[in-house]
Amino acid sequence: MTEVDYAKGLEGVIAAESEICQIDGAKGKLYYRGYPIEDLAQYSSFEETAYLLLYEKLPSAQELEDFTIRMRQSRGLQPPIRDMISHFPAAGSPMELLQSVISYLSGSVEHRIQHSATCNCRQTLHQISQMATVLATYQRFKEGKSYLEPRMDLSQGANFLYLLKGQEPSPEEGRIFDTCLLLHAEHGFNASTFTARIVASTYSTCYSCISAAIGALAGFLHGGANERVMNMVDEIGGKENIDPWLDKALEQHRKVMGMGHRVYKTKDPRAIVMERMLKELSQQKGDLQLYEFLKKIEENFRARMEKKGKRVYPNVDFFSGAVYTLLGIPRYLFTPIFAAARSAGWLAHILEQRKDNRLFRPRALFVGPEPRPYLPVEKRSGG
Ligand SMILES: CC(C)(COP(=O)(O)OP(=O)(O)OC[C@H]1O[C@@H](n2cnc3c(N)ncnc32)[C@H](O)[C@@H]1OP(=O)(O)O)[C@@H](O)C(=O)NCCC(=O)NCCS
Repeated sequence: MTEVDYAKGLEGVIAAESEICQIDGAKGKLYYRGYPIEDLAQYSSFEETAYLLLYEKLPSAQELEDFTIRMRQSRGLQPPIRDMISHFPAAGSPMELLQSVISYLSGSVEHRIQHSATCNCRQTLHQISQMATVLATYQRFKEGKSYLEPRMDLSQGANFLYLLKGQEPSPEEGRIFDTCLLLHAEHGFNASTFTARIVASTYSTCYSCISAAIGALAGFLHGGANERVMNMVDEIGGKENIDPWLDKALEQHRKVMGMGHRVYKTKDPRAIVMERMLKELSQQKGDLQLYEFLKKIEENFRARMEKKGKRVYPNVDFFSGAVYTLLGIPRYLFTPIFAAARSAGWLAHILEQRKDNRLFRPRALFVGPEPRPYLPVEKRSGG
C-alpha cells in the first residue's frame, strides 16, 4: 500500500456493500431500502420502518401486526433494569446508562443464542423497544416519579411521550414524535453505524455491537447537534441579536449549529419534513416564536454565506431540537433519543454485515521511528 491510498478518517473510502440506505447528497434525496424518506415520513410508522430495515421489505398487514405486538411486548423493563436506572450515578450520562442496559440485556438466558455467528438479531427487538422506555423511566425517576408500565395501544413515539409525562399525548404529538424517530432510524455509513459493523464483523454479539455504536454516537462530533442548536438559540437571546451574533460567529470561524452537512449539499430532506412538523406543532400549541426565530437565523445565515458564494442549508438537527422542546423533552435526552431511533438501523447493518462477512482489518500508514536498538536504562541519555 502506498501513501496515495491513505484517506484520513476513511473519507471517500468504500468500506462495504450495503442495500439499506441510499443518500444522494447532491440532489438531497434519502431512501431506506429504495423508499423515499418523504413517503415513509408521510405514510409509515417507526415500527413499520424498523420492519423494513430489518426484513428488507415492507410488511404485509399480518406481518406488521405480529411485529408490532412483539415490539410492544418488549417495551416493559424488568425490576433489575429499573433498579439499574434508579441507582445509576447522577454524574453518568443517559448514553452510558443505555450502554449499561444493553449490556445487561445480553445476559438474559433466552437470548444467549445471539452469541453464535449465525445469530438472528431480529430476535433482539427489545433493544429497540426498551431503549425508549429506559430513557423515559430515567427522566421519571429524576423527577421523583415512579415506574410507569408502557402501553400496548400506542405507537413507539406516542408511548415514549406517554411514559415521559404520564399523560397520553395528542394524536398529532404522538405522530410527530414517531415520525422524528423514523427520520433518525438510518443514515448509511456514519461513525456509529460503521462502529456497529466493525464489531459485528468479529462475530461479537448484537449487544456488544449496539453498545459500541452508542459509544460512538456519544461523542460530540457525531451526536448532539440539535442540543447545541438549542444552546445557540439561548445564547443569541432575542431576534434583534441574530445579526450581530452571526457576524461575530462567522468572524471567529465558529460553525452555526444545525447548518451544513458532510453529505447533503442541498437541503437535508429530513430537515424539510422536520421543519414542516415544527411549524405544525407550533401552530397547534399557538406558539410560533421558536419556529420564527429559527427561520430568521436560517435566512440571515444563508444570506451571509451566499454573499461569500457558499450554499449552506439546514440539516435535520436544525429543527429537531425545537420539536423536542415543544414536546417537553429535556435537552440531555436528545442524543439518547437519537440512539434509540438509530438502533433500528444499527441492527439492520449488523445483520447485513453478518450475511456476507469479512473481518474489518485496515492498516495504518506507519510514520513512526525507523527500527532502532533497545538501550538499557543506564545507557539512555536525558532524563
Ligand atoms: C457538518 C459540517 C462539519 C460540514 O462541513 P463541511 O464538510 O466543511 O461542509 P461544506 O464543504 O459544504 O462547507 C462549505 C463552506 O461552508 C462553511 N460552513 C459549513 N457549515 C457551516 C456552518 N454550520 N457554519 C459556518 N460555516 C459553515 C464551511 O466551513 C466551508 O467553508 P470554507 O469553504 O471556507 O471551508 C459543518 O456544516 C458543521 O460543522 N455544521 C454544524 C454542526 C452540525 O450541525 N452538525 C450536524 C450535522 S448532521
